[in-house]
Amino acid sequence: MRILIVGSGGREHAIAWSLAKSASKPEIFVAPGNAGTKRIAVNVNLDSADQNGILDFVRESRVDLVIVGPEQPLVSGLADILRANGISVVGPSAGAARLEGSKAFSKDFMQRHGIPTASYRTFRAGQSDEAISFVRTQGAPIVVKASGLAAGKGAIVCMTLPEAEEAIQNLMVSQLLGEAANEVVIEAFLTGEEVSVFVLTDGIDYVTLAPAQDHKRIGEGDTGPNTGGMGAYAPAPVYSEEIDAEVRLKIIEPTLKGMRDEGSPFQGILFVGLMLTPDGPTVVEYNCRLGDPETQVVLPLMQADAVDVFKAIASGNVGQLSIGIHDGSAVCVVLASEGYPGPYLKGKVISGLEEGSTDGTVSIYHAGTAENDLGEIVTSGGRVLAVTAVSPTLEEALKLAYDRVEGITFEGAQFRRDIGLKGLARN
Ligand code: AMP
Ligand code: GLY
Repeated sequence: MRILIVGSGGREHAIAWSLAKSASKPEIFVAPGNAGTKRIAVNVNLDSADQNGILDFVRESRVDLVIVGPEQPLVSGLADILRANGISVVGPSAGAARLEGSKAFSKDFMQRHGIPTASYRTFRAGQSDEAISFVRTQGAPIVVKASGLAAGKGAIVCMTLPEAEEAIQNLMVSQLLGEAANEVVIEAFLTGEEVSVFVLTDGIDYVTLAPAQDHKRIGEGDTGPNTGGMGAYAPAPVYSEEIDAEVRLKIIEPTLKGMRDEGSPFQGILFVGLMLTPDGPTVVEYNCRLGDPETQVVLPLMQADAVDVFKAIASGNVGQLSIGIHDGSAVCVVLASEGYPGPYLKGKVISGLEEGSTDGTVSIYHAGTAENDLGEIVTSGGRVLAVTAVSPTLEEALKLAYDRVEGITFEGAQFRRDIGLKGLARN
């Protein structure tokens, strides 16, 4: 079996790692991959936006299954093109990926299907005055969002009215996020803890992975600007069985049914970003793919063989699937470059990666890494490494992960020291 993973982050390294453990010993390709995927798979020098290049590679190399990691190629229709050519894919059609690609669409969709989400209004180009009047009537805190994909920079949580007016100005007048803000969604501020729920689905049947919590802000105590995610842990104890039952009934099932009824069945991995509010679980956003860094904690906790799982999603056999979740906890601490999430430096040599890197309990997933001309592993992105530990308890997993983080160095490395503390406080 030959499997191609599209993407180059820690998520894709963790997917490759889960496939490499499979009893069926698949041949794994990653396009374009990173210095970590190169150790366990074949990196293919193709950009994830190069649809024709990917199709040609898949045909020439007789790839049996494609797993698409990031959202952008899905929103651009990569899964449609591959399926139209008879290739099995894990990932939704462009029509279904609108759940992530257009917040205006996803909010209207939730409203049509009675799925709990923050109240909102959508504004289009030229309506900045209306948007400003609207936030003045609503008051702060309030959340201003670019509707389109904005690499994690599109949601601006505004604690005061001047911040909201500035956000509207930046998105709608100065157009700082370009076309992503051709439509702007302004929604009510929700309070509670956030949880990431991953729904593996063939469009009809579904299974879920361990509920995870991300740490989106750069700074400890959830301070500073948003990032792609600075660490994660799973399972999140705040997500009780009662909450899970409610989420399935009021959110997951109506979402899958709604997408089928509207002619865009969702096949792939639906990431439901939830806020556990005092009024019940509420959707903050949908994503059309696995999360990063959540994948690095949810896949190691999955008992089933990853090849069987991804094949079942692509071939419509999720009803026959039993995934099983290990009893323990997983923790992932992200090491990021100096300056991230702003402009950052690249090319810093990373040391301390070798010893005990993959002994089963601690794994180092690479994100922004590359090899320099001397064969050294260097930083090449904002988020560089995701150090992950799995252990019977959250406490022990945290200790293992942080001990391993201490052994890794590169100039300017930054990481948060408070990953998983919310979970510990609840345990
Ligand atoms: P999004 O891009 O929609 O996932 O938003 C990014 C992050 O902004 C979320 O993970 C939340 O932390 C925060 N956020 C988004 N929408 C809201 C909201 N309505 N209320 C409070 N926080 C929000
Ligand atoms: N960790 C959040 C995301 O992948 O969007």
